Amino acid sequence: MELIPATEFTLQELADAYNETRIDYIIPMPMTVERLQSYIEVYDVDLGSSCAAADRGQILGIGMLGLRARRAWVTRLGVLPSGRRQGVGRAIMGFLLDAACRHGAPVTWLEVIQGNTPAHELFNSLGFVETRRLIVARRPPAFKEIAPGEEAERPRVRHVRTLDHEATMALLASRQDKPNWLNQTESLRNASDVSALVIETEDGGRGWVTYKTSLLRLTRIVADVTEGDPAAVAAALLQTLHEFYSTQDAIAENIPADDPKWPGFLQAGYFEAFRRIEMVKDMAAWEPYGTDAL
Ligand SMILES: CC(C)(COP(=O)(O)OP(=O)(O)OC[C@H]1O[C@@H](n2cnc3c(N)ncnc32)[C@H](O)[C@@H]1OP(=O)(O)O)[C@@H](O)C(=O)NCCC(=O)NCCS
Repeated sequence: MELIPATEFTLQELADAYNETRIDYIIPMPMTVERLQSYIEVYDVDLGSSCAAADRGQILGIGMLGLRARRAWVTRLGVLPSGRRQGVGRAIMGFLLDAACRHGAPVTWLEVIQGNTPAHELFNSLGFVETRRLIVARRPPAFKEIAPGEEAERPRVRHVRTLDHEATMALLASRQDKPNWLNQTESLRNASDVSALVIETEDGGRGWVTYKTSLLRLTRIVADVTEGDPAAVAAALLQTLHEFYSTQDAIAENIPADDPKWPGFLQAGYFEAFRRIEMVKDMAAWEPYGTDAL
């Protein structure tokens, strides 16, 4: 087996290999060349620091690395079912962590879906430590509040403003949260056409939510409450957003499970689809792998 930088393959080959590694995955995530291209751009995936493991030209598995200023993030790791439990996943991780080390990242981040024991065990064995649980939430467009009195508990919105992409990026410069890689400002900037809605409530609450619209879906939803009760203002904020875009389905990725705004998401009609475990590895403890271990 050899580890070959992902730059040696076409996006079609990488997308095909990725799909084969995920054939039995807990959450179906089919990949096309267009989606992979966009994923690489939005999440700053560095293909030279990413790789495929191959045996006589046949791809056995792949892994990718996102790189930002002194930050590294492992993503898209997968081994074909026929090649598993032979050290391929560990070898790919070695390649990615070596690249993260060369980049000078003090830590490397990744997420694993809760319940994915093989991957979780692999990351534990490499010294990754859990930092938090992240919720991936969805909201169907037809949601209507059914609980009587719920409307009254939510503060009334006094003022609404919308911001274009540039103004949204300026707003994000002052964000207070600790975003996961998917929601970092770079991801929202790279995603382009991300807007924001800013509200003030009659009782002095303030908050904003970013979003990107398409015909069927709202994505890039990141909410922040700067004044007032986090859950109540978040509920008002999200309900206002969904009144504007009443026909779209919505997906909000990687909301920390202990985020005080989460009850506001539930009140606005979101439900938990699945959870990810965010993990971090301290790179000071990483002994470069090289290829000797293969
Ligand atoms: C996770 C995955 C990449 C592991 O690849 P692999 O090549 O089988 O892993 P390795 O053979 O290198 O095993 C490395 C370690 O992972 C853990 N591991 C792998 N498979 C495991 C399993 N079925 N059960 C428990 N632990 C497992 C073990 O700690 C193992 O070390 P050991 O062999 O010394 O016990 C592979 O199972 C896979 O592609 N799964 C589907 C896609 C996926 O889950 N990707 C990760 C998304 S975060």
